[in-house]
Amino acid sequence: MANLPLVRDSFGSRFGVVAAAAGSAVGLGNIWRFPLVTTQNGGGAFLLLYIGFVLLIGIPVMMSEFAIGRKAQLNAFGSFKKLAPNTPWFLVGFMGILTAFAILAFYSTVAGWTLEYFYQAGTGKLLMAENMEKNFSEFSSGTYRPLIWQLVVMLITAVVVYAGIKKGIEKFTKVLMPVLVFLIMLLALRSITLNGAMQGINYLFLPDWSVVNFRTVLMALGQAAFSLSIGMGTLITYGSYIPKDNNLLATTTQVAFTDTFIAILSSLMVVPAIFALSDITVSELSAGPGLVFEVLPDVFKSIPGGSILAVIFFALLSVAALTSTISVLEVVVAWLKEELRLSRKSATAIAAVSITMLGVLATLSFGELSGFTIFGKTIFGILDYTSANILLTFGALFIVVFVGWKLGKSEFILEISNEGTIKSYLFKVVFFIIRYIAPVAIGIVTIATFFVRGIV
Ligand code: PHE
Repeated sequence: MANLPLVRDSFGSRFGVVAAAAGSAVGLGNIWRFPLVTTQNGGGAFLLLYIGFVLLIGIPVMMSEFAIGRKAQLNAFGSFKKLAPNTPWFLVGFMGILTAFAILAFYSTVAGWTLEYFYQAGTGKLLMAENMEKNFSEFSSGTYRPLIWQLVVMLITAVVVYAGIKKGIEKFTKVLMPVLVFLIMLLALRSITLNGAMQGINYLFLPDWSVVNFRTVLMALGQAAFSLSIGMGTLITYGSYIPKDNNLLATTTQVAFTDTFIAILSSLMVVPAIFALSDITVSELSAGPGLVFEVLPDVFKSIPGGSILAVIFFALLSVAALTSTISVLEVVVAWLKEELRLSRKSATAIAAVSITMLGVLATLSFGELSGFTIFGKTIFGILDYTSANILLTFGALFIVVFVGWKLGKSEFILEISNEGTIKSYLFKVVFFIIRYIAPVAIGIVTIATFFVRGIV
């Protein structure tokens, strides 16, 4: 039993806030998942839908989360309990904690793969492999190797989270985020200047609306929520560490812009290179989670300096993943620490160990447990699909309804204007979207998909 410190740990600088929140947002969601779902769902049309959702829903939800957390100065669960005492709203916070479990469980699997690939690229083994598909499937369907890497991921994550907000999360992300942005720009530049890259660029930017259906729209919404880290309380938790004089509108805009910029840049890094250098077709392109692990290594193999670029790429992917995993773990740790009054150390240990147990099942979905499916999806597939498209979208819905209808306009504007110190007509616009437009938009997309296609 430890007493809560008198002064709550917080971010120390404006850049620290943006680095940590952007560090959470930018991750495998941008580099691994975004190019994958974009190519699976029609390229340019998906991209436009995605950008629409970031503006219309992402930004208002992100601001709502920051405002809730900073106002309450508590974890995701405690914030709802404090701001709406004696009501069932705490359930939204609780759902967020569960979502954190689901996301980190499968996310740590993929983060583990990136570490393995960083290792393989560094030792030269990767580019020596004859057949990249075989190389990936042999590794990912194994038992010990992917599990060990998953453990390494969870261990690094736990160490950073244990070190705290200023000394752990902020320090780690402040150094690594700029490096990440620089490396992605470098690789995207390489990819779009390859001969034949134009076909991929066209695929990404020329919308083909004939492939769009309700499911595609839901996928775009789910991807936006996943990529911006909204809908489960990560940003409520981080919001509670943001100093009271921080301009939340500016922070939100910067984070959402960085995240979207990196998602697009990542597609520019992955898709044109694939079109230029391999002979696969779009339908093959959309198969399985292997885009980055099977196709890209072939690309690296065929360009000068590829062995160095491969090391850079997988280092970058690992960094992006780790700055996100820490933000997800922090959701659970802050909850355990503040609600169950555990020390940061025990909270971190309990959270990391229990999530790893679920994570093992996700990792084994590619090997021992690959035959175990529900609705035709493996455990990994279920965790991935439901967390982004169901849990996060409903989470986002509840969060905007909470701010729009329960917390209310004056409380919300008081918080985001720093008690009236900042004046902007945009606050009212954002509140209008939060109260009316975002809930209707999210509601239509989620419910329509349910009726049209069945939920999974
Ligand atoms: N936004 C992260 C990514 O794009 C994933 C994430 C989702 C992190 C939800 C926190 C909460 O990789």
